[in-house]
Amino acid sequence: MRIDIVTLFPAMFEGFVNSSIIKRAIENNYVEVNIVDLREYTTNKHKKVDDTPYGGGAGMVLTCQPVFDCVKALRKEDTKVLMMTPQGKTYKQQTAYEFAKMTHIIILCGHYEGFDERIRTLVDYEVSLGDYVLTGGETASMVIADSIIRLIDGVIEKESHENDSFSNGLLEYPQYTKPRVYEGLEVPEVLCNGNHKEIAIWKHKESLRKTYFKRPDLLENYSLSEQEAKWIEEFKNKE
Ligand code: ADE
Repeated sequence: MRIDIVTLFPAMFEGFVNSSIIKRAIENNYVEVNIVDLREYTTNKHKKVDDTPYGGGAGMVLTCQPVFDCVKALRKEDTKVLMMTPQGKTYKQQTAYEFAKMTHIIILCGHYEGFDERIRTLVDYEVSLGDYVLTGGETASMVIADSIIRLIDGVIEKESHENDSFSNGLLEYPQYTKPRVYEGLEVPEVLCNGNHKEIAIWKHKESLRKTYFKRPDLLENYSLSEQEAKWIEEFKNKE
């Protein structure tokens, strides 16, 4: 997979591509991450990439020319173009799975007041992180790229993301590590007894418990098994 991130602030990505799992994924050729400086594509002799909005209003708007030329230069047959914008569809784990199947993604990061509306004709997906406004799409694009890269086969252990929160519609069960008792706080006995069947049932129930108490909205679209419905009754009685 190749991910091209188009930005006016390439320096913001230095830490992202040079740290931890993302760095290793790049070094081991699971993914190619290309940070593209939009300013390189402007034909303006002062390297200007934005202008004042028609009809008036605050701030500056990214102009069409550099973005159109940049996408034209980068696009291949199987490319999908993503635009980071608070006007996009709210990003979810299910979308990360969908994007992780793609072979080439271009992510457009906006800055200032946003993009000239005509730039949207180049775009396949408008993506928002949530209902708030960032100073630019750069931090948002790192979130998107990170969530995609970790799903590429081989980047992390498959089991790690199969148990992720949201992967099965529920939050992930609680995790513990050594020591077994810390300042009087104990690890649940069942996790230490080596009975894998019991452990699997406990994880499933605790995953449901977390979801019920922290994100009940996730259960609205979740079809409960008979056992899960019984557990929910049990949680309700303890509320
Ligand atoms: N750019 C500015 N705000 C954003 C948001 N909430 N999501 C994605 N891109 C953005």
